[in-house]
Formats: sequence, structure tokens, C-alpha cells
Amino acid sequence: MPIIELRKITKVYPGGIVANRNVDFDVKEGEIHALLGENGAGKTTLMKIMSGGLKPTSGEIYVNGERVNFGSPADALKYGIGMVHQHFALIPSMTVLENLRLGLFDRKLSKDQLIVEVGELSKRLGFDLRLDVPVDALSAGERQRIEIIRLLLRKVRVLIFDEPTSLLCGPEIDRFFQALKQLKSEGHGIVFITHKIREALEVSDRITVMREGRVIAKLKRSEVMDEEQLVELMIGERIVPLPDRPRTPSDKPILIVKDLVVSDDLGVEKVKGVSFDLRAGEVLGIAGVEGNGQRELAEAIAGLRSPKSGEVVFIGENSGFRPSYVPADRVELGVAMSLSVMVNSIIRSIDENSKGRIKALDFAKIGEFAQKVVSFLGVKAPSLGAPVKYLSGGNIQKLIVGREILKSTKVLIAEQPTAGLDARSAEMVRNALSELASKGVGIILISSDLDEILKLSDRIAVISGGRIVKIFERAEFDPKLIGIHMLAAGGYMA
Ligand SMILES: Nc1ncnc2c1ncn2[C@@H]1O[C@H](COP(=O)(O)OP(=O)(O)OP(=O)(O)O)[C@@H](O)[C@H]1O
Ligand SMILES: [Mg+2]
Repeated sequence: MPIIELRKITKVYPGGIVANRNVDFDVKEGEIHALLGENGAGKTTLMKIMSGGLKPTSGEIYVNGERVNFGSPADALKYGIGMVHQHFALIPSMTVLENLRLGLFDRKLSKDQLIVEVGELSKRLGFDLRLDVPVDALSAGERQRIEIIRLLLRKVRVLIFDEPTSLLCGPEIDRFFQALKQLKSEGHGIVFITHKIREALEVSDRITVMREGRVIAKLKRSEVMDEEQLVELMIGERIVPLPDRPRTPSDKPILIVKDLVVSDDLGVEKVKGVSFDLRAGEVLGIAGVEGNGQRELAEAIAGLRSPKSGEVVFIGENSGFRPSYVPADRVELGVAMSLSVMVNSIIRSIDENSKGRIKALDFAKIGEFAQKVVSFLGVKAPSLGAPVKYLSGGNIQKLIVGREILKSTKVLIAEQPTAGLDARSAEMVRNALSELASKGVGIILISSDLDEILKLSDRIAVISGGRIVKIFERAEFDPKLIGIHMLAAGGYMA
């Protein structure tokens, strides 16, 4: 008998969008169940229903064969069902231990008991948690481990992960999979939403594929032949990657970063003296374990964070110039969730009077540009007037990337541009970035996906512990060597 079973679940959002249609889904003891599907297919919606965050419009939920109704996530937790959301629910300024205590709700544990229990759980899963540091100072991988411990402290039996690997780099993904396998061997049931098919094939026992709100395939791992078969199921066609673009970076720098020192919100120095230049038409990849200063570096270059010292100089531009910027944290920095798709399409372009940008209140132009942004990468949205919070995660990402690419710019900083995108959309974004570079735009590509960096970059700078430890020319690209440098000079992977 499955631990939890959803029967004939339909979800219609206010406004009439049908996100799930008659979906059957279940999770068994000791299995890893991958949930795949293109952006907007209905995966997050279904898992929110299974974990009490949303109520289905119709359909039934059974736990251990007993019919249940979840009024809230706390209800679902009582039945042993917990979800780790894409956007972590931790309080950044509080320490790890404080966050864990908050997650206990009605479980009464003294601080000492809590420390002992967290110690035992960490040991089983191979985690090495730093309990006294504020969450703000942790990498994405570390935050995820805290979320897992938080659920296990509540004695959950089913753990649901919504795109848990999209911001992690290779070694961190391996560690996450180790933990999943351990949880599975202890009898937990696991749901794993991912866009990376290789990952689903690597760890899962069963695979469910959704398209347009419906389940279109349920497979045992052993029934899957290859990655292509799954891609075809997901999007109905094969993806043929374009050949490498001709590389034509000029030798003229358009951006010079010199001795840059940047602190995070808590005043901790995250960028410790970084210097490099970016040339017109060049893609400069920045490889590193997430949390080694990438975000602060990107924000400082984008003009969103004042550096403590050092310089960011754009060559040949007037002083009002702001580069395009795709932030890794799309919810905090990328969009205003309750504002419309239209407003969010132009939100970083208004009030900048330099050439090619939009003046506020030119409605015809705003609508035209918003339509262009939506069409460019195929953002699925109910209408231009709908608030962005009605969009699926991947469609929000497409909106941000499209907006920043379409703005006329000389420099683009792209942080995790394909995180959360399905295979087809990710390929579209990579092609769009290549094309932008061939038009002479300089691109700083920050990504935890080393394959993506290797494919797109002309040079790769490795950042570790807030320093650029080495810059590789294309002829010297070597994933192994780059990996070694990522962990050098205080670059951590706790
Ligand atoms: N709060 C909401 N209100 C209205 N519509 C919504 C809301 N949340 C999601 N939707 C719509 O429901 C559909 C399914 O969204 P969902 O987030 O479940 O997709 P997903 O499979 O998780 O996609 P992604 O891979 O992009 O994360 C989408 O068409 C989306 O626009
Ligand atoms: Mg989703």
C-alpha cells in the first residue's frame, strides 16, 4: 500500500486556469519517485496539494488507505508529509539552530535535546551542519540540508523536493543524492521534481511525466530506455542542440573590475579583491560552488550593491549606464510578484532615459515591449495583465531572462539563467545568449552548471572563497581541473 495516494485530483485556480486534470499519483515506502514535465505542466501545484499548501478543486487524498483532508501544511505534516519548496522558507538573519527550533512547532525539545537529535540525523545523512552561523552565510546546498533536517525533526515519512538541484553544483548534487538514498533505505518515500532527466534516471525508482496538467506517462526506471525517450514524452519533440557559435570576441575590454571588495547584508566580506576584464562579444563564465561570492560580485557589477572598495568601470558608456542583470534569486530580485506580467516586463527599464530604453507612461510602447518579452521565450501566462505570482516558476524565469536579453545593452550579467527551465526553454536561452554575444554584447555567465559554462564561455574564471583563483582560456578548458580550483583557496562545500 502506498504511504500517500492522490486520486483524480483536479485543480482550477481562480481565473479558470486548470493546473491539474484528473491526476492520480502515489508515493510508496522506500522509493524515489521523480516527477517530470515542462514548465507550467502542473508539478508544483500537484505537490502543494499533496503537502497541504493548496486545496484541490476536486479529488481525494488517502494516507495509509485512510481518506484525509489537508487544511494546511501543518495538517499534512501531522500525517508525515512534508515539502521542501524551491524558495527556501528559512529566516536568513537567524542561526541554523534557531531556524530548526522554529520548525518544531508543537514538538517540545530542549535546546540540548535538539542539538543531540540534529547531531544524530546529520550523522546518518552525512551532513556537517554549522549550527551557530546565520543562514544568510550558507550556500544553497547547506540551506537545503537544514530544510531536510527540519522535516525529519517533524518525523515525516514522505519528503517532497521541488527542483532541489537547480542551484547546486556537481559535487553538491552528488551529496544530495547520497542523502536521498539514505532516506530511501530508511523507508522514507521521496518525490523529486527535476528538469534534469539524467538526474531522474540516476536516482529514481519510478518516473511520472506530466503535460498540460495531466499525467501522460508512469514508468518504472527499468522501463525507460534513454533520456531522449523522456524528453519526447515531456515536450513531444526531440531537442537538437545548435552547433557551437563562431567565436569573435574583440580584444577591447568593455568592463573592467578592479580590486573589488564586497560585503553581504550582514557585513561579511564575500568578494575579497577581484579583478578581471570583460571584452565585447565575450562570454566570461564564472564557475564556483554557490555561496563563494558570486551573488555579491554580480550585484556589485549590476549596481545593486555598493562595494567596500575597488572599481567597476564600464568603458565607452555614459555614467548612467546600467547593465542587464538576471539575478539568481528571481523572487527577491527578479520580479515583483503581485504586479502584472506587463509591468514586470519593463520594470528595470523605466526611468532610464538613455537610448533604447523606455520612458515611463508610454503605454503603447510598454505593451509592445511586454508582448515581445512574452513571445521571445514563450512565457505561458494567462494575460499580460495577470500578476506574475500566477505563473509557474519556469515561466517567471523565462520572463526575467527574456526581459534582460531584449533590453538594449552592452553588458549582461546572467546568474543561473537556465535554473528551473525545461530542456527546450534552457536550450532556447543558451542560444539566445550565444546570439547576443555574437552581436558584441559582453556576458558574464554565473552558473553552477559546469557543462553549460563549458559550452558557452570564451574564458572561465573560477571563483573560490571570494577570489578569482584562475582564469582558463578556451583552449585550456578541463572540467576536472576547473573542479579542483573551485575547492581551492578556502572555497567551501560544507
Ligand atoms: N497561484 C496561481 N494562480 C493562478 N494560476 C496559477 C497559480 N500558480 C500556478 N498557476 C498556473 O498553473 C499552471 C501550472 O503551474 P505549476 O506551477 O504547477 O507548474 P510547474 O509544472 O511546477 O512548472 P515549472 O516547471 O515552471 O515550475 C501554470 O499554467 C500556471 O500559470
Ligand atoms: Mg514548479
